[in-house]
Amino acid sequence: MPNILLIGNGAREHALAEAIARSEQKPRIFSFMKTNNPGIASLSAKVLLGRYADLEAITGFAVENKIEFAVIGPEDPLNNGVADALSRINIPSVGPTQSLARLETSKSFTRNLVSKYHIPGNPRFRVFKVIDGVEAFLNELEGIVLKPDGLTGGKGVLVQGDHFATPQEALNLCKQILAEGSSLIVEEKFDGEEFSLQCLCDGKTVVGTPLVQDHKRRFDGDKGPNTGGMGSYSLADHSLPFLKPQDLLDGLEITRQVAAALLAETGSLYKGVMYGGFIATKDGVKLLEYNARFGDPEAMNILPLLKTDFVEVCRHIIAGTLDQLKIEFEHKATVCKYVVPKGYGLPSDHPDAASSKAKIEVGHVGKARLYYSSVDQKEDGLYLSASRAIGIVGIADTLAEARKIAEEGVKAIKGPVAYREDIGTDALIQKRVDHLKKIRKD
Ligand SMILES: Nc1ncnc2c1ncn2[C@@H]1O[C@H](COP(=O)(O)OP(=O)(O)O)[C@@H](O)[C@H]1O
Ligand SMILES: [Mg+2]
Repeated sequence: MPNILLIGNGAREHALAEAIARSEQKPRIFSFMKTNNPGIASLSAKVLLGRYADLEAITGFAVENKIEFAVIGPEDPLNNGVADALSRINIPSVGPTQSLARLETSKSFTRNLVSKYHIPGNPRFRVFKVIDGVEAFLNELEGIVLKPDGLTGGKGVLVQGDHFATPQEALNLCKQILAEGSSLIVEEKFDGEEFSLQCLCDGKTVVGTPLVQDHKRRFDGDKGPNTGGMGSYSLADHSLPFLKPQDLLDGLEITRQVAAALLAETGSLYKGVMYGGFIATKDGVKLLEYNARFGDPEAMNILPLLKTDFVEVCRHIIAGTLDQLKIEFEHKATVCKYVVPKGYGLPSDHPDAASSKAKIEVGHVGKARLYYSSVDQKEDGLYLSASRAIGIVGIADTLAEARKIAEEGVKAIKGPVAYREDIGTDALIQKRVDHLKKIRKD
């Protein structure tokens, strides 16, 4: 019976806990969480609440419970060097060291790495520490994207057309970003359709998992502000309806080359998840960014489909033997819908913003799976926090069925909550297919 340390408190980690708990190895889960996630707690032998920067608390908890290895869910503990601290006491992690996690935590690191090793997929870009030269570069680009260099919880990137209109406005925003002390990446804006390719990596071998499409915008029809992600879907064939087979191969090849570049650059092996955020454009697949962990929601699409024992997958990642393991996923479609407080993503003076701390009731979700995210379990019931509350996942042979299951599940959550109805609908998917067809002229 292996003892496994799980770090994280979101719906992604609830899905990870479930994948670990399903293992035939009968593992015992020891969870280190920032807040008490009732779903993770119910699958854990022991829970310790603390901060992801508290390396002593985490390593102490690991030693005390004779942990074989850790699974690190979110980016914050990776950024804080939790994998490094555990490694110093000979406990391996699925999750990269602080230096390797720069793949996610520093967008300039990754853009520069991709350039230096001549890997395809980068936009035209430049990294700035001071404002000199920014204006001239802004004027060279046809479409502009501004990225502060560092973790911003998915809410830091500014896109022309969405967040600002003109190069002059962009220049003012650049000044603000630099004044806040961050480096700034200015890059060319791509037009296309985005997809998430989450790969497992042992430092040498890269294994793809089913493709997923996330929905960042708060409201139906991709309207409203960007969020941490309102939901996602995947198809039974593990591809997406708007992609060509070559697009997946290109995303995989870029990720393989990046894994090799990371090794060449740092001399150490990347062990964990390389999640590529890609965009299919008229000129092929381009790289938006990497995350150094599973996506949230995207983990909820793929982990329930994993047929291979997840504990075995982790052991092979740690041992560097992923090339010797056959990793299989069920051929089913999935739809994940996040139930969020009505006020989620809205300005604090909006009338719905008060919905944040309200009580909710969780009824019977039918055939759907339920993954807790930011909820507060109090003695008298379950309360919303300011963030996404519950991920509901439908799994079925077809996307339509999966969506129906998710919809029914969502309706079982009562309270001042909201969700996106359009995720996984034919209409939304057709829009994406048509868009890409138009720009690819095929
Ligand atoms: N070069 C780009 N061209 C077009 N859109 C972009 C580009 N870079 C980022 N975006 C948009 O901004 C979103 C957030 O950017 P991303 O690099 O994924 O950062 P993060 O997820 O850390 O916010 C993307 O999902 C995409 O919609
Ligand atoms: Mg992103």
